[in-house]
Amino acid sequence: MSDNATTHFGFRTVPTEAKKGLVREVFESVAPRYDLMNDLMSLGIHRVWKRIFVTTLGPRPSMRLLDLAGGTGDITFAALDRGCGHAVLSDINPAMLRVAEERAVERGLIGRMELLCADAERLPLPDDHFDAVTIAFGLRNCTDIDAVLREAQRVLRPGGRFLCLEFSRVTVAALAPVYDAYSFRVLPFLGRTVAKDEEAYRYLAESIRRFPRQPELASRMTAAKLERVTWRDLSGGIAAIHSGWKL
Ligand SMILES: C[S@@+](CC[C@H](N)C(=O)[O-])C[C@H]1O[C@@H](n2cnc3c(N)ncnc32)[C@H](O)[C@@H]1O
Repeated sequence: MSDNATTHFGFRTVPTEAKKGLVREVFESVAPRYDLMNDLMSLGIHRVWKRIFVTTLGPRPSMRLLDLAGGTGDITFAALDRGCGHAVLSDINPAMLRVAEERAVERGLIGRMELLCADAERLPLPDDHFDAVTIAFGLRNCTDIDAVLREAQRVLRPGGRFLCLEFSRVTVAALAPVYDAYSFRVLPFLGRTVAKDEEAYRYLAESIRRFPRQPELASRMTAAKLERVTWRDLSGGIAAIHSGWKL
């Protein structure tokens, strides 16, 4: 945890107001190679996790979805492909949104969605509006997780659902040393050789370790007035899907 004046950026403690700029630099640097690196880093497993996430979402034609920290669009596109009526793909970083826009045009999805450059901690959106709010691999990068959770709850309509997919804490003991070696040796190596940015990928590995464990994130969701909060571990807890409802 951090006090109000400082927060964590990976394993470093930095002034709270500096974190957004540092995170922005990471994603500006990786945006053009982000999709390739995701496949390499996770050995393609992120695609399986995202498929499970969107199945959990259960897109339908009447659904208005807000995808927070949507990056280059994987969740938004999968939801639209699987029948979601309308989606707002929002992200704080224009470089990531530019890649998302190109991909949306290529897929012919641009008429069914909007792109919004916005900070998930302060959404320029009305109360009680969306049927679902998703955030995939985004919450970890936000400075004020509780503010994001409160905003998600605010913009959901009563009966709407919040879903978060995020790296989490390995719950299978035998997996932990392998996963540590992979995160702190292989990931920075891939960052150096493929993305040409070792620091950015070191940050990713470190930020995963600083993120709240499954039960702590669940209690923070409850504190943000989300109800019936549950989670499901994926790949032995390497990632987890948290779910909460606005009732
Ligand atoms: C790891 S990417 C995830 C992108 C996408 N959701 C996916 O699953 O592929 C994290 C995204 O979080 C965005 N981000 C970081 N801080 C944010 C904030 N405060 N508000 C909105 N987006 C933010 C970054 O710009 C980046 O695009």
